[in-house]
Amino acid sequence: MWLTNSSIGRKLIMSITGACLILFLTFHVLMNAVAIVWPTAYNTICQLLGANWYALVASMGLAALFVLHIVYAFILTLQNRKARGNDRYNVTTLPPHVEWSSNNMLVLGIVVVAFLVVHMIQFWAKMQLVEALSHDPATWAVVDGAAANPAMGTLFIHAAFSEVWTPIVYIIGFVALWFHMNHGFWSMFQTAGWNNDTWLPRLKKVACWWTTIVVGLFTIQAVWFTYQAKENAYLNDKELQEQYFETYVETIQHDQEAFQSKAMEIQLSGADQSEMAVKMAELQKEVDAKSTIMTNAIKVFCKDLPQVKALIRQEEEMQKMQQQAPMGGGEEVIADSAAVDTTNVKLQN
Ligand code: HEM
Repeated sequence: MWLTNSSIGRKLIMSITGACLILFLTFHVLMNAVAIVWPTAYNTICQLLGANWYALVASMGLAALFVLHIVYAFILTLQNRKARGNDRYNVTTLPPHVEWSSNNMLVLGIVVVAFLVVHMIQFWAKMQLVEALSHDPATWAVVDGAAANPAMGTLFIHAAFSEVWTPIVYIIGFVALWFHMNHGFWSMFQTAGWNNDTWLPRLKKVACWWTTIVVGLFTIQAVWFTYQAKENAYLNDKELQEQYFETYVETIQHDQEAFQSKAMEIQLSGADQSEMAVKMAELQKEVDAKSTIMTNAIKVFCKDLPQVKALIRQEEEMQKMQQQAPMGGGEEVIADSAAVDTTNVKLQN
């Protein structure tokens, strides 16, 4: 096929996929900007996109664009090297019309991909991937000692930018991205045949402006998020705490409904009494484990809300009573304390 077999066809694939990636980055930087001006709205967008089928299809399309762009980059570079033979080693100074980034697109691209791998581990793997694979809070990533709801983007921004190395890795990635995107932007028009003396200088200017605005905004965001993480802003903000609380309560309600229907299934299964008792005990254990994870997360991420403060106070009092209780009576108090945990959360529903 002409598109994949000819050199110009392969370059066209690079240009089209590159153009789509530039559009994605422009959308991405604007979405990140929402996290700065209105963090709760940002989390709502993350929740809407989440692991819904349309978001998963879009992510798979995006991954395909990245893969095509990278594979064809290697094919074209190998093809160029073959055509030039050993001559490339003889060149020590570049002719004035050849830019430095033009000769280093592959290396710049590899640095961007290395950044992307770190970035995907910090965000995508803990958000969309976790949500797509399971609804079990035991699989959620731990942030500040508690299970973070994968739909709450601000929690993951806090976790990522709390690491001292994150802004350093990001800035290195952004510098490489600037050179790579700036050169790629205008050269894709050149590939498409727009390379006359009037248009090329204009397109180079547009490329430089667009790239500088997008990469500049990413850089400002990385600095802002590092500052916010240092101040614990995404953990202390009251509005965010209320939003976190709502999403955790929703998960608890969802779990309770699932528990009730499973319990009903067991009762209607026709199994004998002892088998039923074993299954119910297993189910109860599962529910208790989930409830402990949720209650802990609420205590960490919603700590300043009055209802959560009351829950924490009540638990502390229970613990005190437990310590003061005479030997032998402790079990009853422990049982009471567990009951306070769940009933308190249920009361807030
Ligand atoms: C300050 C800089 C950045 C921040 C704070 C940031 C934040 C995020 C977050 C929170 C997500 C997860 C969204 C979700 O799964 O719902 C994400 C996904 C992603 N980011 Fe970034 N990002 C930044 C820069 C970049 C850059 C420079 C690139 C590319 C070179 C990039 C590429 C991606 C990709 C490919 C995804 C996966 C999108 C998907 O699967 O739909 N990000 N980013």
